[in-house]
Amino acid sequence: MKDIKGKGRNEDQKNDMMNLVDNLNRKEDLTYNRRSFLKTAVGASVTLGLATLPFSIKAMINSEEEMERIEIAKISEVPKGESKNFTYPEEEPALLVHTKDGVLKAYNNKCTHLQCPVFYEKEEDVLLCPCHRGFFNVNNGKPIAGPPQRELPMIELEIINDVIYAVGRKIRHG
Ligand code: FES
Repeated sequence: MKDIKGKGRNEDQKNDMMNLVDNLNRKEDLTYNRRSFLKTAVGASVTLGLATLPFSIKAMINSEEEMERIEIAKISEVPKGESKNFTYPEEEPALLVHTKDGVLKAYNNKCTHLQCPVFYEKEEDVLLCPCHRGFFNVNNGKPIAGPPQRELPMIELEIINDVIYAVGRKIRHG
């Protein structure tokens, strides 16, 4: 009788030890799996980050497009406080503005919110998108009020013999 009880107790202890070891292994497995998952995730992130670094740098700095030179207007055709629509490059809508201060500026005039046409609002000396009342600074094309978050692409101008030319486009990010 005594022997059987002792045997049974031994069996129980053995099973307890097995369960304990089993549980320990599971915990370790879990820890190792987590660790290896984290290592893999971090490794993949670093690799992806490095692989896309050149593109990120390029996107962060201003990108300037080499384009053809096209004539927009003679200065006399766009007096101070006036604007003129044109297309540049090709069919892209653009707006030339002669500000009240006498500065010539041009932008791609598709609103950076949902692409409605942007106009020059002479009274306020701002660029206005009437769709959702988005406002842009006429001197730099940056959004100043309303939904737009990004600047309008700036068109570079050259003036030769009183003729205004579009010579390039700057897509900016900020
Ligand atoms: S499309 Fe210009 S503000 Fe919405």
